[in-house]
Amino acid sequence: MCGIVSYVGEEPKATRLLLQGLKSLEYRGYDSSGIALLNDTLSVYKNKGKILDLEKSLSTLSDEEREKLDQSICGIGHTRWATHGEPSDINAHPHMDSDGTIAVVHNGIIRNYIKLKKELIYKGYTFKSDTDTEVIANLFSYIRKDLIAKGEYEDFLAMRLLSSRLEGSYALAILLNESVNPNTTQPAKRILLAKHESPLVIGVGQSENFAASDSDTVLQFTDSIIRLADREFAVISKNTIDIQDFEGNMIKPVIEVLKKNDSLMDKKGYKHFLLKEINEQPTVLSKMLSLIEDSTYENFKLINFNINFAEIEKIYCIACGSAYHSAQALKYILGSWCSLPVDVIVASEFNFQHKLIGERDLLIGVSQSGETADTILALQKAKSAGARLLAITNRPASAINNLCGANTYITPADLEISVASTKAYTSQLMAHYLLALQIATARKAISREFFTDILHNLKTLPVLLDQMLNRANHYKAAAVNFAGYRDFIFLSRGINHTTAMEGALKLKELSYAHASAYPSGELKHGPIAILDENVPVISIAIPSIYPDEQIIYEKIIHNALEAKTRKSPSILLTTDSNQDHVEEFDLVMRIPDIDQLFSPILATIPLQFLAYFIAENLGKDVDQPRNLAKSVTVE
Ligand code: G6P
Repeated sequence: MCGIVSYVGEEPKATRLLLQGLKSLEYRGYDSSGIALLNDTLSVYKNKGKILDLEKSLSTLSDEEREKLDQSICGIGHTRWATHGEPSDINAHPHMDSDGTIAVVHNGIIRNYIKLKKELIYKGYTFKSDTDTEVIANLFSYIRKDLIAKGEYEDFLAMRLLSSRLEGSYALAILLNESVNPNTTQPAKRILLAKHESPLVIGVGQSENFAASDSDTVLQFTDSIIRLADREFAVISKNTIDIQDFEGNMIKPVIEVLKKNDSLMDKKGYKHFLLKEINEQPTVLSKMLSLIEDSTYENFKLINFNINFAEIEKIYCIACGSAYHSAQALKYILGSWCSLPVDVIVASEFNFQHKLIGERDLLIGVSQSGETADTILALQKAKSAGARLLAITNRPASAINNLCGANTYITPADLEISVASTKAYTSQLMAHYLLALQIATARKAISREFFTDILHNLKTLPVLLDQMLNRANHYKAAAVNFAGYRDFIFLSRGINHTTAMEGALKLKELSYAHASAYPSGELKHGPIAILDENVPVISIAIPSIYPDEQIIYEKIIHNALEAKTRKSPSILLTTDSNQDHVEEFDLVMRIPDIDQLFSPILATIPLQFLAYFIAENLGKDVDQPRNLAKSVTVE
């Protein structure tokens, strides 16, 4: 989703750093990009397409224009993910006001932009684009001119007036051409920033300062960051950082020193980030197991949450996308280990359900980025309804961590660059097992023997997963057979319904084929109608030593065979030593022997590879699939 980067300093490196910053924001997903530079005047360069396209068009500029690019010490940049107005050169950011004296980049949505636009057109402002952002540029221009005319112009005052008119979410970076305000005493080269429900951090350098949508982008340039809080403005120049809240109170900046991140865009020899991230999964899972705070039966603690799990009556899990799928596993695990009811709700559908939450309920938000607008909103609603909150996120510097504080578990998967989630998803699954273990032991719901058995099984997962990575070519061979199909059905039941949903999502995201997942019992209730030789059915059926789960396995096999009788190409995903009915399937993909209860992490891997190799075979953009955003910061 949209990304912002800004630089102000004294060396002529604005263009280079903005482009570098934008490249590190590519992973968020975007359809166009642009930069604005402040020299004697403002210059904007922007393009539909990739940053590479922007770079190409910059290289064709006249010598005079190139000189401007090479000399700039102050600028803002943007990657746009279209919300208002199709992806196009004109709709790309930065946007300028009608007079060309202000340039704005924006992440978020201005809900009342149509009303504001009409008002501004009436006042004589003109618009070139279909975006909500151009309204901000013209509105700020109007406010600024008015204040200058009255001799009252001041950056924070102007921004307060601006935000008092904007409804919606926004992170903003604004450049001003000071030729219209000759009496100002402020540094001419400065950037105005605002944060309201969209991410924005400041990077503090030596005689230079930065701002960006995520801390990793800033950490390429400096190790010192300031996290702007919601409803805060900032004005940065090469030597100053002033922060004020929306009420007009000056805020003392808190500088955090973090580890610099030089290798953000390093694929480490892999062809794609996705492949690199698939291969990082064993390491991430091992790390999670090694970081368990207390692994004794008496006092098991993933981390020391400030929650009395013995008192909880019901759990609600809210999340989106892959995180939502992972949460389904928690539902099965807790249902099975301690008969604790868990409702898993898509965050954007949570709107009215917070009214159902009682004092003894726990709300768990799961989010890789920690910045997903729908998930944040659901957590905020639950908080104001008095619910206890717990978060699982991959990003320490995130809004969700800020909201849930000490009750946040950070999955140690590190930055996930590829838009489609792999290592963050499996780390969420592992987090659910470990959290369930903490809840089950706190409630004295499982025996010491079962506890030992669970931990033993979880500890084998990184080793087995590591072995599975050597099977990549086997999964590739399977994938090539299926690259030509446009519709797929994924079937499973019980805990691996999670895996079926995630497998279908990966295939959709990466290859743009249509893929749907069903609990296999549902096949007869509609989906079977579409089955024929053009619709492969992938069935995930993992045997179990537990009788209830073994029945689930048997039912999946029978449902899969029903699909086969409708001529669908049939793929079975099962364990290495299972020979039951395997000859009846067109293709069998295998994972190492593991019980069904612990199988979702391993069972996901062949489906990640399947989606990856099909997409690669079709020549798709694996790391940045069309239309998708990594971090969905608008509702
Ligand atoms: C986007 C991403 C998905 C992700 C979902 C939820 O749609 O493309 O990969 O699963 O958002 O994101 P979150 O950061 O909240 O886990």
